[in-house]
Amino acid sequence: MTARLVVVSNRVGPVKDVGRAGGLAVALVDALKSRDGIWYGWSGKIDEAAGTKLSLEGAGNLTLCTLDLTEQEYDDYYNGFANRCLWPLFHYRIDLTAFDRQYYDGYLRVNNKFARGLNPLLRPEDLIWVHDYHFLAFAHELRSLGAQQRMGFFLHIPFPSREVLATLPNHDALVRALFAYDVVGFQTQSDCDRFTDYVIHEAEGSVLGDKIRAYGRTIEARAFPIGIDAMAFAEMAKEDGEAKRQDLKMRKMLGDRAQIIGVDRLDYTKGLPERFLAFERLLEDYEELRGKVTLLEIAPVSRAEVEEYKDIRAQLEGMTGHINGRFSEYDWTPLRYLNRPFSRRSLAGLYRASKVGLVTPLRDGMNLVAKEYVAAQDDEEPGVLVLSRFAGAARQMREALIVNPYDIKGVADALKRALDMPLEERKERHASLKQGLIREDAAHWRDNFLQALAGEAVS
Ligand code: G6P
Repeated sequence: MTARLVVVSNRVGPVKDVGRAGGLAVALVDALKSRDGIWYGWSGKIDEAAGTKLSLEGAGNLTLCTLDLTEQEYDDYYNGFANRCLWPLFHYRIDLTAFDRQYYDGYLRVNNKFARGLNPLLRPEDLIWVHDYHFLAFAHELRSLGAQQRMGFFLHIPFPSREVLATLPNHDALVRALFAYDVVGFQTQSDCDRFTDYVIHEAEGSVLGDKIRAYGRTIEARAFPIGIDAMAFAEMAKEDGEAKRQDLKMRKMLGDRAQIIGVDRLDYTKGLPERFLAFERLLEDYEELRGKVTLLEIAPVSRAEVEEYKDIRAQLEGMTGHINGRFSEYDWTPLRYLNRPFSRRSLAGLYRASKVGLVTPLRDGMNLVAKEYVAAQDDEEPGVLVLSRFAGAARQMREALIVNPYDIKGVADALKRALDMPLEERKERHASLKQGLIREDAAHWRDNFLQALAGEAVS
């Protein structure tokens, strides 16, 4: 019998209308339903009386289990240590990183609370798969309660270089806690190499193939680049009613103007100010494009209570006003900047109607927008992806126009090249990008990880 799968992540679901959900949810729900599973995490609710009382919700073979957080836990664990410390630090923004002991203590307490909540539900043969920087210490906490199951961890964001990580006062304890897992997975080989480098130099560890030994344990550390359900997304962009509606509406509105599209959570790692500057530079340097091209930036507000997110929002509002004030004509607005979210169905249509996908994070674990933009294109008339070399996706998506997001002129010139690219070249680049997406899709990622997770215990 296949072992039951227990997935742990801060955000849980949705499991019903997965067409609205992210690709990750789709991949996980498939695995959880096909083998009996639990998806465990935060309910998204704040309740002063929140303890370790679970809410359970069944959906076929899958049970959703969630816990509430108290206001204090939410501030210290989620807003604090996860999003004001680990997030900026792992994205190389030491300047924005808040090192606060109270946040760290709260983080460990919440990891412990979630471990205590899950422990009574576990069966000996369960496989436990934990996701992302919110739960680095989860396995360590669960093991301290006596759990012996196989446990795997996948980091969705970059792993920083040893010098950057070492600025965190508790770096040693956190990496040590990761060794309570049996498998630790990263988005790219470079992330995995940086982890290995840390362990060798800071923890006197040793490496043997995919295995790494330190702190008295041997674990498996490997890259598992995350993919999307490329075929399903391509199908959705082409056939889904809502996608088609958005595609047609957008094309009608654009007329013979070309659209560049960017879609990001409103986050300082996404390189949005640099992106706006590059677009401004494009209009400055290539006058013939004025009135002929527009940038649509969709950036739903995220982590809105965190100060650094308020700052980036204010900055982008100022820049949008400046660029539009400078270049707009009464019948043409160069930059449209939207903070509202769109469903994935709508996005699929908007990607398809856009000549260029502009994905220029300063640092990004993978970036699935790059992949979805490519999957959504019409094979016979595809648009061009302009992609930052600092997104994990750039490792796989070599046929995109790869740019350095800090090089404003370089990005402006790549945009010009994308807008001018002949159909034959677009088709060639697109075909091989799409093949890659289909080869290394979400199921491939999930199955590879689960295979490693199900392997024999190695220590
Ligand atoms: C990134 C993280 C995820 C997180 C998502 C949304 O992709 O890797 O773990 O869930 O952002 O952020 P939020 O703070 O809203 O969960």
